[in-house]
Formats: sequence, structure tokens, C-alpha cells
Amino acid sequence: MQISPSILAADFANLERELARISGADWAHIDVMDGHFVPNLTLGLPVVQALADVSPVPLDVHLMIEDPDRWAPQYAEAGAGSVTFHVEAAADVVATARSVRAAGARAAIAVKPDTPFEPYADILAEVDMVLVMTVEPGFGGQSFMAEQMDKVRQVRRSVEHARVPVWIEVDGGISADTIGTCAEAGADVFVAGSAVYGQDDPAKAVAELRASAQRSRGSAPDGS
Ligand code: DX5
Ligand code: ZN
Repeated sequence: MQISPSILAADFANLERELARISGADWAHIDVMDGHFVPNLTLGLPVVQALADVSPVPLDVHLMIEDPDRWAPQYAEAGAGSVTFHVEAAADVVATARSVRAAGARAAIAVKPDTPFEPYADILAEVDMVLVMTVEPGFGGQSFMAEQMDKVRQVRRSVEHARVPVWIEVDGGISADTIGTCAEAGADVFVAGSAVYGQDDPAKAVAELRASAQRSRGSAPDGS
């Protein structure tokens, strides 16, 4: 059960200080948006490189950009611990995942709410994580889409069937109210923006979210 706070909800004028506040988390989730793949623009390669140098935890970079085939490996070279790219944007998913791994990072694929996972079930050995979006990518603070839990369960079944050590991440609307549902469905990495940086004490929020995910997984039907 890993927590990856999204700095999209942090103070962009003080990112080093904001990262220090979540040193008890497992990852720092960095949302890279290009204004084309999603209708919002955030930050890019030079900023990620600078954050990698000062972050107390590894960077979980979420690319919401066009042409990830070209850019994803460069984020790995910039020092990201994990690079997630969207299958909707990639020309060659397997080749891109391989280049990310070759550049020294974990490789992950993301699927938007309307994108089925099934076509990617047979390439699970090529990736380290699958990100199931629980909102439409582009903005923080949106409502959790519970109907995506079917997809989380489907990815969990495929991972068990393929016997691969692939993590399942959920992103969007994750809070104390929704994290349990995701853990029960089989997710094990949880992105939270507002539910961490929107709180007075982000470190405490991280610990509470993790405890709550652990409790729910413990009560899942298969006990896994
Ligand atoms: C949305 C981003 C998320 C966002 C989540 O496109 O991918 O990572 O920061 O924010 P919350 O947790 O506030 O929904
Ligand atoms: Zn994200």
C-alpha cells in the first residue's frame, strides 16, 4: 500500500518545501500536462529534473502529453523513479515502456476512464505499473468515478493470472472516503492531491490514507 501525493494541489511557488512536507510518503506524483493531450498546462522536463535533485522521495511522473514515445525516456533520464504514459497517446506502447526501463526507471501505462484495459492485458510483462484513472485527466479536485472499480478488478485479475509483479495505481478523487473502495478492488498505489495538500497537516494525511488502505485490503474477500 503506497501513497503518492500529487503536487498539483501544492504551492507551486515553493515546491522544494512542499516535497519536504510529504517525506513520509512513498512517492511524489508529478503531473506533466502539455495543453494538447489534456486542456491544461503544468510543468516539463527542466522542472522535473530540478525536483528530482531535491525530493526526499522518488518521483512518480504522470505524463499527460502527446508523443510520449519521444519524451517518456527523457523523464527517466531526468531522474524520475517511475514514468507513466497514456496508451491513448503512444504510437508504440511496448517500445516506449522498454525505453523507459532502459533509461533506468519503472515503466507504467495509464488508461483514461473511457479506455478499455483489455488490449493491454497481454503486455503486462513489459510494464511495472498500470494506472487506472478515476477522473478524466487534466485537473485536480474532481469527483471520484466509482464505476472505474470494475477496471481495477479486471487489471488485478490479469496481474494475478500473468503472475507478474505489476502495481495498480489509481488517480483522481482519492480521499479517506474513496481509498478503501480502491484497495478492496485491488489497487496498491494511491495518488492523492487535494486529500493531502488540501489538509493542514499533509504528513498526517499521508499516514491516515495509508492506514485506511491497509485496513480495507485486509478486509478484501481474497484477503490479499
Ligand atoms: C489529474 C491528475 C491527478 C490530480 C489528482 O489529471 O492526474 O494526479 O492531481 O488530484 P485529486 O487527488 O485532487 O483528485
Ligand atoms: Zn496524475
